[in-house]
Amino acid sequence: MNCNLNEIIKNRRATPPRFLAKTEISKEIIQQLLENANWAPTHKSTEPWRFKVYIGESKQKLANDINLLLTQKVAEGEPINSQKIDKFKDALERVPVAIAIIFERDAAERLPEWHEIAAVSMAVQNMWLTATDLGLGAFWSTPEFLPLLNHILEIQPGQKLLGFFYVGFIAMEYPSPGRRDIAAKVVWKE
Ligand SMILES: Cc1cc2nc3c(=O)[nH]c(=O)nc-3n(C[C@H](O)[C@H](O)[C@H](O)COP(=O)(O)O)c2cc1C
Repeated sequence: MNCNLNEIIKNRRATPPRFLAKTEISKEIIQQLLENANWAPTHKSTEPWRFKVYIGESKQKLANDINLLLTQKVAEGEPINSQKIDKFKDALERVPVAIAIIFERDAAERLPEWHEIAAVSMAVQNMWLTATDLGLGAFWSTPEFLPLLNHILEIQPGQKLLGFFYVGFIAMEYPSPGRRDIAAKVVWKE
């Protein structure tokens, strides 16, 4: 392998949808992201990550269906910020690929839930680093109204929607917020 892992890790950015290009991403590339997601660590081999890939017409339908549902919910008095509803629709329409991130609990519940959510998060990081290596931008979106989307996303009992992973070519670089020094977060015991 000739990639520099340190560089990939530090170059990975949360690139907001408006900074991504609409240009289509090939299914081969999406498959590569998913394949690498599948190699995340997994306690007791529960492999709790599930994904739904929305592209083309299915993505537009998803955007329309969610917009309609949330607009109805607002009319019924649900406290959702209308601007966030519009922003979410814009994002789904803008990005070429939206991957629903779904956590599926081990049926026998042999592990604390957080072990499995951690595994799904590592699967997402695998996709994110792979996207970075391929020169793509990505973004993990977790709007507060996610729990209202279960029916539209056909989330099954034992599953939980953890957000949407957007992927696209980078139209404009988004600046890094940087990180505070690791030294302040570590205690060495020697
Ligand atoms: C679990 C998780 C959920 C996130 N959800 C959102 C989100 O809903 N909206 C958002 O702007 N960023 C979200 N982010 C991305 C962070 O905002 C982003 O990683 C942070 O700004 C640091 O930027 P960087 O990743 O480019 O270094 C999420 C990140 C994680 C790990």
